[in-house]
Amino acid sequence: MTTAAHRTRFTDRTALVTGAGSGIGRAVALALATEGANVVVTGRRREPLDETVALIEEAGGKALAVAADVSRAADVRSVVAAAVDRFGSLDVAVNNAGVFRGGDPLADLPEEDWHTQLGINVTGVFLALQAEIRQMRTQPTGGAIVNIASVFGVHGRHPGTAAYAATKAAVSVLTRGAALDHIGDGVRINAVSPGAVDTPMSLLPGETEAARAERAKATLPLGRISGTEEVAAAVLYLASDDAASVVGTDLVVDSGATA
Ligand SMILES: NC(=O)c1ccc[n+]([C@@H]2O[C@H](COP(=O)([O-])OP(=O)(O)OC[C@H]3O[C@@H](n4cnc5c(N)ncnc54)[C@H](OP(=O)(O)O)[C@@H]3O)[C@@H](O)[C@H]2O)c1
Repeated sequence: MTTAAHRTRFTDRTALVTGAGSGIGRAVALALATEGANVVVTGRRREPLDETVALIEEAGGKALAVAADVSRAADVRSVVAAAVDRFGSLDVAVNNAGVFRGGDPLADLPEEDWHTQLGINVTGVFLALQAEIRQMRTQPTGGAIVNIASVFGVHGRHPGTAAYAATKAAVSVLTRGAALDHIGDGVRINAVSPGAVDTPMSLLPGETEAARAERAKATLPLGRISGTEEVAAAVLYLASDDAASVVGTDLVVDSGATA
């Protein structure tokens, strides 16, 4: 059997992962490095990024941490520039950074939480796409981009998530539009929409991991939530040449929640 450790789909490629200091982003960064990519990891806090770099280097890979806020255009441009400066190109980008604010009905959501989610989840992906595409379209080999949306966007519905869901629906739609605009430039763009994943973001307020597992057993067709490495596997597929003819899609990884 071929395992991820034996695959080399990203050898000599440079990958950028936003929000790579934790959760899904860290798992994606580790998986890309395992398959040979030089990985640039970004997020606002330096310390978790350094931990991700250490994990990659311990496993024999190459990585660079650059602290940046994806909601700021200059930050995003400087991360792309740092990737090209250090490794010579930008071949893969995974726009994963995102936040959830909510839980209560929409009328009770503080306005600030709306702006925070819009700024990071939507404007952050927009700015990252622009900076990444502008680099990738100058390269003879183009590039591949994967945006992380959510089943709470266009696929499903859940009380208390209206504002977050609106931002994630925007990511799915932005993905499709950007994919159409830039496939002619050799830049292939897709999205992954996870359901509940094994990170603190999928815990209800005050919920323990054991209680979440019970809830998943009772409510999800698969009977469990997804592991971060399972979402990473979907991201790597879309970012790889295995998906060379997959353009503008939105791959749901949700334990059957929206099946
Ligand atoms: N977990 C789930 O069940 C689930 C389900 C569907 C979709 N998702 C999506 O998957 C993505 C990753 O979520 P996760 O569960 O792995 O959560 P997480 O562990 O909180 O990861 C989010 C990462 O984004 C970074 N980030 C937040 N704001 C940023 C900004 N302005 N600029 C740069 N980086 C920023 C955070 O680092 P800093 O705070 O240091 O910046 C953090 O490392 C998110 O887009 C989320 O919406 C998650």
